[in-house]
Amino acid sequence: MEVRLAKTAGFCFGVKRAVDTVYEQVKKCHDKKIYTYGPIIHNEEVVKDLKGKGVEVIDNEEELRNLTSGVVIIRSHGVAKHIHDVLEERGLQCVDATCPFVKKIHRIVEEESQNGKHIIIIGDEKHPEVQGIKGWSETEVTIIKTEEEAEKFEAPTGAEVCIVSQTTFNYNKFKYLVEIISKKSYNILVLNTICNATKERQTEAESIAKEVETMIVIGDKHSSNTQKLFEICQSACKDTYYIQTLDDLDMNQLKSVKTVGITAGASTPNNIIEEVQNNVRINF
Ligand code: F3S
Repeated sequence: MEVRLAKTAGFCFGVKRAVDTVYEQVKKCHDKKIYTYGPIIHNEEVVKDLKGKGVEVIDNEEELRNLTSGVVIIRSHGVAKHIHDVLEERGLQCVDATCPFVKKIHRIVEEESQNGKHIIIIGDEKHPEVQGIKGWSETEVTIIKTEEEAEKFEAPTGAEVCIVSQTTFNYNKFKYLVEIISKKSYNILVLNTICNATKERQTEAESIAKEVETMIVIGDKHSSNTQKLFEICQSACKDTYYIQTLDDLDMNQLKSVKTVGITAGASTPNNIIEEVQNNVRINF
């Protein structure tokens, strides 16, 4: 059996940086309680491991406001500006592990809104990254995810528009939605802020999936980028499995298979990928 592991499988630069930051803080801070604002990544295994080391997850602003001391780590998704203000007000120590690519979008949105532009974020309104980006604008923000929303969009009279994207958004869909909005001939500044890490991972996964009999996608069930990766692989390879850990993999399903491809979402730790890869290789 031939096993092909995607080079781009697993943590992207921003997620690795954020996870490493938490482990560094665990080593450094013995006298202070460590919190992450939201789970550091969408991966139950990692969050469980950190919990064992005393790191607690704060789920919302209200919980943050109840803290009186400690270190709060901001994850790679970033947060709205006012969350930084709350941290300062409460005298909490902030360790900002926002991915620099997301930080760049915050700066764009802050500046362009200060210039009076109406901000459009192409992305998923419910995603914390999008909520964070929105929170850096000083003017009104419209979040667009679907064709209908793009068609419906009307900028306030006379307003110039600045379009940015959620880093993990699909590039073709972004282009398509921007085309729809551009036809309305507003004065538009389009900034493609999609991160290459996602695109590269998707492109590599698709090309492997096209060439193998079975494809395995590893990632947490709540990870949206893993879900997208699974969809892409499934349309290229019918026999695609979505697993969280090795335990979810039924080796019997791979019995008569000669080529297997493996990829993993941005929040899947290396040890889980290794474990799956080694077991698939050993068993055949
Ligand atoms: Fe950053 Fe791109 Fe990852 S924006 S968090 S490196 S997907």
